[in-house]
Amino acid sequence: MKKRKIAIFASGNGTNAAELIKHFKNHPEIQVGLILSSSSKAGVLKVAKEHNVPSSVVNKSLLSNNGYTTALLNLYDIDFIVLAGFLLLIPPFLVKQFEGKLINIHPALLPKHGGKGMYGLHVHQSVINEGDLESGITIHYVNEMYDRGKIIFQAKCKVDRRDNAEKLSKKVQELEHKYYPEWTEKLVLQTRFM
Ligand code: GAR
Repeated sequence: MKKRKIAIFASGNGTNAAELIKHFKNHPEIQVGLILSSSSKAGVLKVAKEHNVPSSVVNKSLLSNNGYTTALLNLYDIDFIVLAGFLLLIPPFLVKQFEGKLINIHPALLPKHGGKGMYGLHVHQSVINEGDLESGITIHYVNEMYDRGKIIFQAKCKVDRRDNAEKLSKKVQELEHKYYPEWTEKLVLQTRFM
């Protein structure tokens, strides 16, 4: 049986990408087929290299070029897209083309602390500034707006008064690494019936 292929879109260190790659390493039905980054300096490209996953770098105008992006995803035969700290807004044609097959993880409990510019430590600082007593992760489908697609799953952690953004980000990343691979697997397998 032909394996389902995931593309991971990421712009940062790639810790989530690494967990996803490990999770699907010997999976009978799913494989990570491509890492797409918006920065040629992103750590995630090193992760791709270490695990022998093909990678590519795009800027905003390349990603928004329907012909280019569609050809790239067709070339690698991509069935499902997983965003893991990707900085560019996903263009409408991709949202449409991958409806139900395009997910993101956000490092807070949406709908709070989301939107443009809410990325990485900015998100955790916002949680601390608001005095929230809990934070966590949100896995959601992606639509044309940052962090506004339908929520699939959330998990929570406590925010201590002594937490700074770095400390909170560690707690949240633990949740991400625990839940994102297993939810991705569940959702990819579910698309067999779509
Ligand atoms: C993750 O914490 C992810 O939730 C966040 O970027 C980080 C990437 O880390 N995404 C966002 O903030 C999206 N708005 P990683 O490169 O180590 O996986």
